[in-house]
Amino acid sequence: MTTPRPARRTDDIAPFFVMEILARAQALEAQGRDIVHMEVGEPDFPTPEPIVQAAQAALAGGHTRYTPAVGLPALRRAIADYYGRRFDAAVAPERIVVTPGSSVALQLVMAVLVDPGDAVLLCDPGYPCNRHLVRMVEGRTVALPVGPDNGFRPTPAQVDAAWTDRTRALLVASPSNPTGTVIGPDALRDLHRVVRAKGGCLIVDEIYQELAYESAPHTALALEADDVFVVNSFSKYFGMTGWRVGWLVAPPAFVGALDRLAQNLYIAAPTMAQHAAVAAFAPETITILEERRRTFGERRDWLVPALERLGLRVAARPEGAFYVYADCSALTDDSFRLAGRLLEEAGVAVTPGADFGMNRPERYLRFAYTTGLERLQEGVRRIGRFLQVR
Ligand SMILES: Cc1ncc(COP(=O)(O)O)c(C=O)c1O
Repeated sequence: MTTPRPARRTDDIAPFFVMEILARAQALEAQGRDIVHMEVGEPDFPTPEPIVQAAQAALAGGHTRYTPAVGLPALRRAIADYYGRRFDAAVAPERIVVTPGSSVALQLVMAVLVDPGDAVLLCDPGYPCNRHLVRMVEGRTVALPVGPDNGFRPTPAQVDAAWTDRTRALLVASPSNPTGTVIGPDALRDLHRVVRAKGGCLIVDEIYQELAYESAPHTALALEADDVFVVNSFSKYFGMTGWRVGWLVAPPAFVGALDRLAQNLYIAAPTMAQHAAVAAFAPETITILEERRRTFGERRDWLVPALERLGLRVAARPEGAFYVYADCSALTDDSFRLAGRLLEEAGVAVTPGADFGMNRPERYLRFAYTTGLERLQEGVRRIGRFLQVR
């Protein structure tokens, strides 16, 4: 008799080191240690009150049943209006598929585009889940190594060289996790031109779009192309990580297949969260969120030079998101070990580069400025003391 075992694909699904660090940090806290959290990729602010009130009203109004698989009509309209108002981009609500977080939007894109053996190009370093999502649909990922010299952006020449007749798509995130760097409208257009010439699709993860500190946010939907998918979420800027609601904007030809996938994979995104998310675009919510965006910007402005004074090089300026991807190679040749020691000996939790790919991860640490300025200052003080005495 053979013993049942998990499917082989699960062997390829790596854990997040950051979750292990978070768990260890929490264990240390349970022992009474004070830990500065710079590892967590979620805003430290609570969900804005108008969103919470909209959820309460939805519950009181008995809105507890399934919505259509592609999403609550009012929310699809609200998202379409947002693109028109904010980016002057005409997006029909019918192209919008509401999902349980952008994580599921990314899963849907992979399911709708990738056949077994097809390839997707991803940036390295990049958001680690993407390669696993491709693996789940029996696809292959091809890593495009990106570095500070080019703002951690892939070049059109790199995409051209990596493309084969099995490649279906290029996926980029702007601003990026872990680097915070932005792909501007011109660079995005250049990448799209190559992808289009190959007959593939461009997938742009815009989850950190509104967390941009130097230039006005933009959207890939401005390309007005029938081969561009945009993924977004209420998690980060809108402060709704735990509500699990995001969305996908797809070319019209894909919406029917996406609807069927959504029906079968999750029936619908959480109804209460969808009602709540309609209020995310209300002017009173945006006022709160813009204040928070300014706060994130101030934290970044303080943190980047403070890290550089410690000997951590920030070679590509993080223009968005809430991360700094700092080069610690002047201090160590093993960022994984350094992250462990910073947690155990200095009481500061950060994420090692190993979470984000194979492209020189040992040189990098990711610092999230998802905690208040005073805590960031305390964290930097502790790292400074640790580096002096170690
Ligand atoms: C680049 C990127 N994309 C997608 C996600 C998934 O977020 P969610 O499923 O909460 O929308 C994250 C979360 O950290 C992320 O950093």
